Amino acid sequence: MRIPMIAGNWKMNNTIAESITLAQGIYYGLRQPGEVDVVVAPPFTAIRSVADVLKDSYISVAAQNIFWEDNGAYTGEESGPLLKDAGADYVIIGHSERRQHFGEIDETVNKRIKAALKCGLIPIVCVGETLEERKADHVTQVIERQIEKGLADITAAEVSDLIMAYEPVWAIGTGKVAATPDQIEAVHIMIRGSLSQGFGSNAISSLRILYGGSLKPENSREILGLPNVDGGLIGNASLKAQSFIDIIKNAKVKV
Ligand code: PGA
Repeated sequence: MRIPMIAGNWKMNNTIAESITLAQGIYYGLRQPGEVDVVVAPPFTAIRSVADVLKDSYISVAAQNIFWEDNGAYTGEESGPLLKDAGADYVIIGHSERRQHFGEIDETVNKRIKAALKCGLIPIVCVGETLEERKADHVTQVIERQIEKGLADITAAEVSDLIMAYEPVWAIGTGKVAATPDQIEAVHIMIRGSLSQGFGSNAISSLRILYGGSLKPENSREILGLPNVDGGLIGNASLKAQSFIDIIKNAKVKV
């Protein structure tokens, strides 16, 4: 059985005060979450404040990135121990915006995953193809490469603790064009198959694969109901408590 996860990626939005208000809005708006794991990823500046608001709640806090060294002369970076100290339990790794704007590559994704696992942060690892790659019919090839290199030298036991997120780059942030249910289900099956091949089906049976890319209340029932979609990673629609709550209500346990 896989308990669904709904994770909100607030990206570079929300002051500390706004983050506290949003976290409270989600918590008080949904006192009985049902069978679903809820995570929010505030900007670094608000992790501590949001973690304090949510400390006795069912909602966990994620960071949006991690550096692979524990400490030292790395101006502007945040390490796993620092993120844990701030109150994070999860960390988003390899988001396409980092790949696109900040030089993230599969090899650095791999280093970040290892650093997160070492300090007990649960990685939410993002993979996904660009529009050009989809048009060229390279979806499987691209995602298999992201998985193979991103998860290099990671053990089956460690992989079973990860969360994967399929985020087609062309569907992120449009608010309109989510991938179709058929496209999503096909890629999720492919990701699970590729992970099972690499790490064994036992390790993968409880691993969750989230979908991200213009997920919103209106399309969440259908997308989150797909047999191989174990939850969602939500950007825009996670910035309003009510729309995030409406998505959480559509999360479904998978057997
Ligand atoms: P979106 O973002 O929901 O705004 O498309 C998803 C993401 O980037 O994680």
